[in-house]
Amino acid sequence: MRDMNETYKGPEISDELGNLPIESAAERNPISRGMYKNVLDTIDGVAVEDLAREYDTPVFVFSERTVRDRARRMREAFRTRYADTSFAWSFKTNRLDAICSILKEEGWLAEVVSSFEYSKARHLGYRGDEIVFNGPYKRRNSIEKAMGEGALIQIDNWDELATIENAVEEMGGTYDVGIRIWFNSAHAPLWSKFGFNLANGEAYNAARRIIDNPALRLHTLHCHIGTYLLDPEAYRLTTQAMLGLRAELKEDTGHLVPCLNLGGGFPSYSLLHGMAGPAEQAVPPIESYAEAITSELKALPKAERPVLRLESGRFLVDNAGYLITSVVAIKGASYKHPPGSPLSNLAQKEQSLGAHPAKLGYVLDAGVNLLFTAAWFAIDASPSRAVPGKLYPTRLLGDLCMEIDVIRETINLPHLRVGDSLTLHPVGAYNFDQSMQFIHLRPAVVLIDENSDVHLIREREDMEYMESRERLPKHLTGK
Ligand SMILES: Cc1ncc(COP(=O)(O)O)c(C=O)c1O
Repeated sequence: MRDMNETYKGPEISDELGNLPIESAAERNPISRGMYKNVLDTIDGVAVEDLAREYDTPVFVFSERTVRDRARRMREAFRTRYADTSFAWSFKTNRLDAICSILKEEGWLAEVVSSFEYSKARHLGYRGDEIVFNGPYKRRNSIEKAMGEGALIQIDNWDELATIENAVEEMGGTYDVGIRIWFNSAHAPLWSKFGFNLANGEAYNAARRIIDNPALRLHTLHCHIGTYLLDPEAYRLTTQAMLGLRAELKEDTGHLVPCLNLGGGFPSYSLLHGMAGPAEQAVPPIESYAEAITSELKALPKAERPVLRLESGRFLVDNAGYLITSVVAIKGASYKHPPGSPLSNLAQKEQSLGAHPAKLGYVLDAGVNLLFTAAWFAIDASPSRAVPGKLYPTRLLGDLCMEIDVIRETINLPHLRVGDSLTLHPVGAYNFDQSMQFIHLRPAVVLIDENSDVHLIREREDMEYMESRERLPKHLTGK
């Protein structure tokens, strides 16, 4: 086991083989050395071209089958090792009604972080006691409503604790609550914005204050150590640390906290920039996270084992989401090289990389306003038809009038034509929810169900939708 104090190091690509880490990684990756680019002509049995024609591009497409498969795999990974596992779905990862409803059907609770998300969960039919309420700021009226309806508030800070103490005094009754805790797991980048610190005793003191209040019952010790965490060891250390606090509280007060919530953070099959794939091999399987966590829990005597709760987002939905785009313009001198150019593939790459401004570029009809995660992740792009010939290092440019609007600085693609479809994947987590109407409005979203029937789940935004929220003061109407 590694030392707790060892500094976490993310996946590292050395630049020994080339001058730029990304390119050297690509050269080393046997798949990228090949001449073959995956074609994505169908999604769950539906032709990409039909989707593009029917809904216009760009269009977000979600696979119901993938969401359910991921949920089932996660449930199986944990429940076969530790039956008392409870799952909550992180609404902020993807708040589309259809996606939340699939996870509700799969038995997931709702994990929300605002009064808007809380109302949304209630609107979708979640009972109050099926909702876990997180976040650094909850309004007093939402706290009272949620507690009154039986939701579990996971307290973030001292001021919130004081608000809750005050509220329960006025409301009367006894209420379950949780507290969020942060600490240095040494195997994940440090997240210290949320919750009470474990190392300096803050978490213990907050827990004691709750246990000592007869109107409150400390139901959950909660932490969420980060997102897209590639090292299962981080979860083992987290489990140990949380169990340590739980044992200390039991020893001092006799109260055994019934639930341990370890948050989310399990990675999807996406790759960070500079990371060599394929993602299915670079990312540890969910079973290894399940093993790290549950082996620690199973070391406890049976009667002392807590309910394990998890709040996943990315793992469940990222792979289920696609964005179909169209190539609307082609840039760069390299475009003049006809397919089958006499240059070797490597020479072609070098030439293009050396002459950066002239690198071949495809302008797509979607920009980073729809792809918030493009800053961290090397989102893959696949044409919908097989294109013969070499692969060329290419830039994928968005349709925003902004220099920063680059979706991929380098991706190997065959020569495409204006009008070709290019599908970006995986984009199911955090992209739709963080998308904004910047320069362009947001596109339609469709869901392909398990019978390959296609459903429009969110209409393309239009001028009327946007204007409906605007108010023009009378003196500016020109009347
Ligand atoms: C408290 C909490 N729980 C769960 C999640 C879901 O995380 P992920 O998508 O990495 O699984 C988040 C996301 O940041 C979070 O803040």
